[in-house]
Amino acid sequence: MRKPVIAIDGYSSTGKSSISKVIAERLGLVHMDTGALYRGITYFALQNCLNESGEIDLPLLFSKLNEVHLEFSELENELVLLLNGKDVSKEIRSNEVSSQVSLIACQKEVRDFLMETQRSIAAKGGVIMDGRDIGTVVLPNADYKFFLTASIEERTKRRFLELQGLGMPSEEHEVRHNLITRDKIDSERSVAPLKQADDAILIDNSDLTKLETIDLILSFIKDF
Ligand code: DC
Repeated sequence: MRKPVIAIDGYSSTGKSSISKVIAERLGLVHMDTGALYRGITYFALQNCLNESGEIDLPLLFSKLNEVHLEFSELENELVLLLNGKDVSKEIRSNEVSSQVSLIACQKEVRDFLMETQRSIAAKGGVIMDGRDIGTVVLPNADYKFFLTASIEERTKRRFLELQGLGMPSEEHEVRHNLITRDKIDSERSVAPLKQADDAILIDNSDLTKLETIDLILSFIKDF
């Protein structure tokens, strides 16, 4: 039987990736966290493409994109992101990367570069991909599309706890500010903005647990 192609988009810290990971396990799909790819490029830029004022030099980054090799690999049952062969899964969650990633994700050169990686994985079928433009741009013909949202209070709490769990404590007001700023830049950019696809199912999970959100999504998936 053919396996479904599922697109999960939505606001930051609505649980897209952790929810997608479980659904992938349940349905035997490949999971791709596309936000990790944008974070990987941002991390690369912070390491290799700073100008004298310590800001990311975009033209330099564009000229170096051919040196960036990103892939997901399984390590001790976890999918980790390798940047040129090095596991950067933890580094890409830092506040520094979080505060710069939207700037990088606005760039057409970067989005074009990542498009091929994303589409080539989906071409094999049986995939759940989460991000911001999956249902609208990357996989407009996905079998199922979901768009996740939740209140800013709830999302701040989730991201704050995630960072604590990673051993990266931060101030709650900073986390909240970063989420609001990122969502605004992601929604207002001219290339592939964050937006609900016309045919996506909207899920507000402010009052749902992760498992309840997973069950709700699975309840829509039929015939596979
Ligand atoms: O899902 P995340 O928070 O790890 O994503 C990090 C950033 O990457 C997010 O602020 C917007 C960008 N992004 C994007 O523009 N398009 C995607 N498909 C996925 C993420």
